[in-house]
Amino acid sequence: MAEIAVGIDLGTSNTCVSLMRDGEVQVLDNVYGERISASVVHFHEDGSVEVGNSAKAKVIHSPAETVASAKRLIGRYYFSEEVKKAQAVYAYEIVEAANHGVRIEIREEEFSLPEISAMVLREMKQIAERHTGEKVTKAVITVPAYFNDNQRQATKDAGRIAGLEVLRILNEPTAAALAYGFGMGLNQRVAVYDLGGGTFDISVLEIGKDIFEVLATCGDTFLGGDDFDDRIIDLLADDFIAEHGVNPRNDPYAFEKLKLAAENAKNQLSVDEEAHISIEDVLSNDDGEPLGVQRTITRSEFAILIQDLIQRTFKVCDEAMQQSDLTVRDLDGVILVGGPTRLSIIREAVTHYFQQEPRRDVDPDEVVSIGAAIHAASLVGEAQDAMLLDVTPLDLRIGVAGGLAEPVIERNTPVPIEQTRTFTTFQDHQESVQIRVYQGDHRIAEQNTLLGQFEFSGFEKGPRSNVKIDVTFEIDADGLVNVTASDQATGQQASTQITLSSGLDDEQIERIIQEDVAGRVTTAGMDDVVAASGATRETPGGHDTQASQAAPAPTSSEEPSGEPSLFGDGSTDFSLDRAKDQVGPSESDEADLELLDDDEMIQLTEESVAPDDPISLDTLVGQSEGDKGFLEPSREDLSSPDLELAEEDE
Ligand SMILES: Nc1ncnc2c1ncn2[C@@H]1O[C@H](COP(=O)(O)OP(=O)(O)OP(=O)(O)O)[C@@H](O)[C@H]1O
Ligand SMILES: [Mg+2]
Repeated sequence: MAEIAVGIDLGTSNTCVSLMRDGEVQVLDNVYGERISASVVHFHEDGSVEVGNSAKAKVIHSPAETVASAKRLIGRYYFSEEVKKAQAVYAYEIVEAANHGVRIEIREEEFSLPEISAMVLREMKQIAERHTGEKVTKAVITVPAYFNDNQRQATKDAGRIAGLEVLRILNEPTAAALAYGFGMGLNQRVAVYDLGGGTFDISVLEIGKDIFEVLATCGDTFLGGDDFDDRIIDLLADDFIAEHGVNPRNDPYAFEKLKLAAENAKNQLSVDEEAHISIEDVLSNDDGEPLGVQRTITRSEFAILIQDLIQRTFKVCDEAMQQSDLTVRDLDGVILVGGPTRLSIIREAVTHYFQQEPRRDVDPDEVVSIGAAIHAASLVGEAQDAMLLDVTPLDLRIGVAGGLAEPVIERNTPVPIEQTRTFTTFQDHQESVQIRVYQGDHRIAEQNTLLGQFEFSGFEKGPRSNVKIDVTFEIDADGLVNVTASDQATGQQASTQITLSSGLDDEQIERIIQEDVAGRVTTAGMDDVVAASGATRETPGGHDTQASQAAPAPTSSEEPSGEPSLFGDGSTDFSLDRAKDQVGPSESDEADLELLDDDEMIQLTEESVAPDDPISLDTLVGQSEGDKGFLEPSREDLSSPDLELAEEDE
C-alpha cells in the first residue's frame, strides 16, 4: 500500500486537511464532524493547547491566551507594518525576539510563529491519524502564491515542528487549479481569485492535459475577510461611542465581542439581505450595568463599506492580466476560493470584472486542500503525476550601490530556476565580499524584504576585476531561495539556503522538536485511535518520540555554524545563518538592519560586464583589506556611471 501523505490548506482563518486514496479525495472531518477548523490556538492554564473551532470560541473569555491569524505574522520582521497592524487588532502579546524576530507571549512563555502554526498542523495530523488509524508523517502544505521565501521557510519549519515531513510547499491557487482540472483532460485558461481571511491572491493558469502552468500570479498578503470585519467593527464602535461615550476598542474583551458579531453579520450577508447585530453586554458601566449595541446592516450598506477593499483586489487582477499578456476575454473560467467569495457582492464584482460568471462547481473552502491532497498522493505514487509549472511571485534582487536593489530573477519567472551572475571585488586585493539578497518589487533596497546577506571569502585575492566570483541564485519548486557562491580561480565554493526571518535556526528547531511543543495539542477523539493503533497517546507537555523521529534530522551542511562570521573575522568559510544571526556581529547589539539601508557596498562595474553576456549584471562588492566593518561608498562610488549601467540594464 502506498504511503499516506495528506494535503493541508493552512489558512489564516481556517485550516482543512484532505487525503487521496484509491483515486478518491476525502476532506477529513474532526470528531465533531467539522471539515474546516479555525486556525486558532488556545493555551490552557495547565499548558495544554486546544486548536480549532472550539479554541476560537475561547477568544471571548481569554483573548490574550488565544492566538488567531498567526499566518499574518509568520516569516515577518517585528518592525514590519503587518506586525504593527496585528498588534492593534489582537489581544495576545506580540513581542520582539532577538534580531527583529516575532514571538507570541502567552502566560510568560514565548512561542515563535512556526510553533503556533505547528500546533494547528499537529491538530490536522491527528485528525488524519484518527481517520486512517495510522501515523501520518508526510504532507503537502499550501501557502499563498504571494508568500516570500521567509514565509515559505517558516511554514516549512512549522511542518517539521509538527512532526510532518513537508513533501512540498504548494501555492494555493495552483492547488485550487489542480483540484478543478486534475484528470479532466482540459485545455483551458483560468483565473483563480482567492480571497481568504487575511490574504488575496490572483493567479492565471493554463491547464493542459496533466499540465498546470501558472502564467502569472499577483497578490496582497494583507487583504482579506478580516478587513471586511474591521469595517463593521468601526461602525459598531462608533455607534457605541455615540451612545455611551466609551470606546469599546480599548477593551480587549469588548473588542472580541464586536469582532465576533461583525464576522457573523458579514457571513450572514452571504445568505440574507440584511443582518441584525445585537450585543447586550459589550462593556459594563461604573454601576456594573451592561452597555450594549444594536444595529442592522444591509447588503447595500455593506457594499459601500468595503467597496475600496474590493477595488484593491481588482488592481491586483489588472497586474496579473497584464503580466500574463492576456485579457479577461481569453479566460475560459474563473475559480473562486476563500470564505468571502461566498458574498454576492464579491461574486457580482468578480463577474463584472471578468465578464463571466465564476464557476459554481468548486467549494471555495475545500478546493485548496483537495488540490494539496491530490499533489501529495502523486508525490507518494498514490496518484498519477501532473506537471505543475509555477512561477516566482516576487523579484529576487541584489543590493547595489546607492541603496538600490537590482533584479536578478524577475517576478513571474517560471520556477525552478537558476541564474548565475559574475561578481568582482570593489577594491584591489580585497579579502571578502558581501552580498545582500532581497525579494520584492522596489528599486529601493529597503522597501523590499531582506532575505539574507552573506560574506564570501577565501577566494584568490588580486587586482579588482581580476577576481571573478560566480553567484548562483536558485529558486526551487517550493519557491525557496538558495544561493551558491564560487570562486572561478580556486574552485572554492559555498552554498546555503537563504532562510532567515522565521528566527529559528536548525538547532532551535531541533530543540523545539525535542521539547515536543506541538505535543501539547489535545485533539478530541484521539484516544480511540490510540486504542486502535497501539500508538502512544501524546499528553500535554509529553514527548512524542515517533513524531520527533519523523522530522528530518539536520544534515551536516545545515548545521548551525556557531558564531556568525559575517564581519571579517578572517574566516575563509562562507557563512550564512538566519537573519536573526545575520544582521550584525554576534557580539554587538548595535549591529542592526539599519546597516542595510544606506551603506550598500555592492556596486556595478562597467569593466566587469562580459561583452558576450549582455544580461549579466556584474556587481562588485567592497570590504577593504583588514577592514572589519562595512565600507561606506564614496560619493563618486554612488555617482552616475554605475547607476546608468543599472538603468540601461532594465
Ligand atoms: N459565508 C461567508 N460569507 C462571507 N465571509 C465568510 C463566509 N464564511 C467565511 N467567511 C470569511 O472568510 C474568511 C476566511 O476565509 P478562508 O477560510 O478562505 O481564509 P483562509 O484560507 O483561512 O485565509 P488565507 O487563505 O487568507 O490564508 C474569514 O474572514 C471569514 O469570516
Ligand atoms: Mg485560504
